[in-house]
Amino acid sequence: MQKKIYLPCFVMLIAVLCASCGRKVVTENYSIIPQPAEMTINKGYFTLSSSTKCYAGGVGQNDQSVKFIFSHLRQWHFNPVLIGTPEANSLQLIINETSDSELGDEGYTIDVGKDGIVIAANSERGLFYGFQTFVQMLPEDISVTRYSKISIPFCHIRDYPQYEWRGSLLDVSRHFFGVSQVKKHLDLMAQYKLNKFHWHLTDDHGWRIEIAKYPLLNDIGSWRVDRDNQPWGEADPPREGEARTNGGYYTKAEIEEIVAYAAERYIDVIPEIEIPGHCCAVLEAYPQLACADDDTTYTVQYGPYWPPRAILCAGNDSVMMFLKDVMDEIIPLFPGKYIHIGGDEAVKENWERCPRCAKRMKELGLSDFEQLQGWMVVEMENYLKRQGKNIIGWDEILDGGVSADATVMSWRGSEGGIKASRHGNDVIMTPLDYCYLNFYQANAEFQPAAMPNSLVTLHKVYGFNPSAGISSERQREHILGAQCNLWTEYINTPEMAEYMLLPRLCAMAEVLWTPETMRDWEDFRGRVSHHCVRLKANDYKVGSGSFQPWVTYSKDSEGRRMATLHWEVEGTRIYYHTGDGVFKRYTEPFEVNKNDKITTLSFFNGMLKEKAYEL
Ligand code: ACM
Ligand code: ZN
Repeated sequence: MQKKIYLPCFVMLIAVLCASCGRKVVTENYSIIPQPAEMTINKGYFTLSSSTKCYAGGVGQNDQSVKFIFSHLRQWHFNPVLIGTPEANSLQLIINETSDSELGDEGYTIDVGKDGIVIAANSERGLFYGFQTFVQMLPEDISVTRYSKISIPFCHIRDYPQYEWRGSLLDVSRHFFGVSQVKKHLDLMAQYKLNKFHWHLTDDHGWRIEIAKYPLLNDIGSWRVDRDNQPWGEADPPREGEARTNGGYYTKAEIEEIVAYAAERYIDVIPEIEIPGHCCAVLEAYPQLACADDDTTYTVQYGPYWPPRAILCAGNDSVMMFLKDVMDEIIPLFPGKYIHIGGDEAVKENWERCPRCAKRMKELGLSDFEQLQGWMVVEMENYLKRQGKNIIGWDEILDGGVSADATVMSWRGSEGGIKASRHGNDVIMTPLDYCYLNFYQANAEFQPAAMPNSLVTLHKVYGFNPSAGISSERQREHILGAQCNLWTEYINTPEMAEYMLLPRLCAMAEVLWTPETMRDWEDFRGRVSHHCVRLKANDYKVGSGSFQPWVTYSKDSEGRRMATLHWEVEGTRIYYHTGDGVFKRYTEPFEVNKNDKITTLSFFNGMLKEKAYEL
C-alpha cells in the first residue's frame, strides 16, 4: 500500500466533435469506482478506434472473459479483430505468464501508452475486472452514443481487492423481481466489482423458486393479494375470495439462466432458503409442517408481519424430510460453495407449546429452544456438507451453537461477526446501520416511504469498516468481506430498487475493494457525482442523496474552536445559526462555543431539502 500513487480523478470530456461517422471524444482524467489501489496518469493520449486491433495472450476468443469484452466492444461499434502477435494500435488482453502474487486471482494491471492498451492479470477474472475499470475510462454514454474515436490518457493502474466477499442481497420475496430485473442488478454488481449475489428467495411474503416435489409452494406459496397500491404499513387484509395476483417464482430454467448470466460476470449466486422461521408461504401451502398445537391459519403475507411467529416444527420428521427434499432440488441449480439457510428472527412461541418439539428436545437432551434451532442448523449443515456445500446463516445461528465450518452473516450489528471470528468461523459483515439500503438515505420527510429503522446515508456507508473491532490478524482472516442488503417491503418497482441502491452501492463497492488508507470521502463525493451521470445515462434510477449536513471541529491558529460543515450532494446550500435564530449562508468554517447548538437549513436547486437540524 505504501507505494500507491493516487490521483484524485474525475472524468471530464473536454472535446466532443461531431463527425459524420460518429463522435470523437477526449477523456481527461478518470473517475473510477472503486478507486484503484494504484493509478498514475501520464502525459499523452492513445486513440481507440475501429482500426484498433485486439491481441489475446494466454486466453482465446472463446474464453469467457474475452467473449464478454468483445461483445461489449461490438455493442459500442468497435470491431475487435484478433491478431496473432502484439502490434502497435492494439488492445491487449494478457494472462500473466508468471503469476503476480500481489494481484491474486482478482487483480489486474492496465497500461495505456502510445502503442495501445494492455490489460493484464493472473486470471480471466482479473481481466474481467480490468475491463470493468477500462469501461469507466470511456465516456459515460458509451452504451448509447456512437463514438468513432476515443482518446484515452496514458496511464498505469495496478489494482486488487481488499475483501474476497463483495456482496449484494436482493429480497425477491417481499416483492418479486423478474429475470430481466435480476440481470440488470447483476450488471450493476459487475460494474462495481461486486462478486456475491445473495438471493433471498423465500420468506413470509412469497416462495420464489420452483420445487417440483412440493408444487403447492409455487401454486399457493408464490402468490398473494395485491396491495401495491397501498402504503406497506396500511395494507388491507384479503377479502373473501379475492384473487391472488401479486407474486411469481423463478422456474428452474430461469434460475439456470440467471446463474449462468451471473457466472459470465464472475458473480457467485448464493440462494437463501429460510429455516426455520419466515415461512408463512410454506405453511399456507403445507400447514402440516407447522407445530402440533398451532391452529393458526397461515397466509402468504401482503404487508407487515410482526412478530414473525410462523415457524417450521422442529419435532416433525416430515419437516426435516421436506427441507432435505427442497435442498436436493436447490443444490444442482447453484454451483457455488454456499447455501444460506437463514436462521434469523425465528420466534419460538409455537415450539414452546408443541409436544413434538418437546419430545425432540428430550430425546436430544437439549435444555433450551435456541439449542433446538442449533440442532436443526447442524442437521442441515451436515446434509449439505455431504453434497459439497457449506452453510451461511444470519448471526442468530450463533445462539444455538454452530460448527466451525458455518459462515456467519452478522446483521444485528458487527458484534456477532466479531464473536464468530474469535471462534474461528468465517464472517460476512452486514450490520444494518451501515449495510441496509432499504433504510432511508435522507430525511424521510423528503423521500418516498422506506423502512423507517434508521438513516443510512451515502456518507455513512462510505465510512463503514468491515474489520472494525477486529483485534488480531487471525480474526481478520475470517472476515471474508461484507455486503449491502436490499429488503423490499417498501420497494415494489425496479426503479425504486435502483433509487435505493444507487449511489450507496458504489460506496459499499469502494469500502470492499479499495485499501482503507486510500478511502477519501471528498474525492469519492466528486467521483460519485460523475457516476450518477453515468448510471442515469445507462438507464438506472439514482437516489437523491442526503441533504443533512454534519459538522467537524478544529482549532484555528488563534486557538478558537471552529466548526466546518460538510454535506453529501455537491451544490447543496446550507444556512445556519448557532442560537440567535438568524440564518446565515455557510461559506467557510465559523467560530463556535463548546455548548453552541448549530441549526441548519439545506437547499438544493432552490428547494428546501432538510429542515432545521440541530447538529
Ligand atoms: C434480517 O434482516 N432479518 C436478516
Ligand atoms: Zn413443533
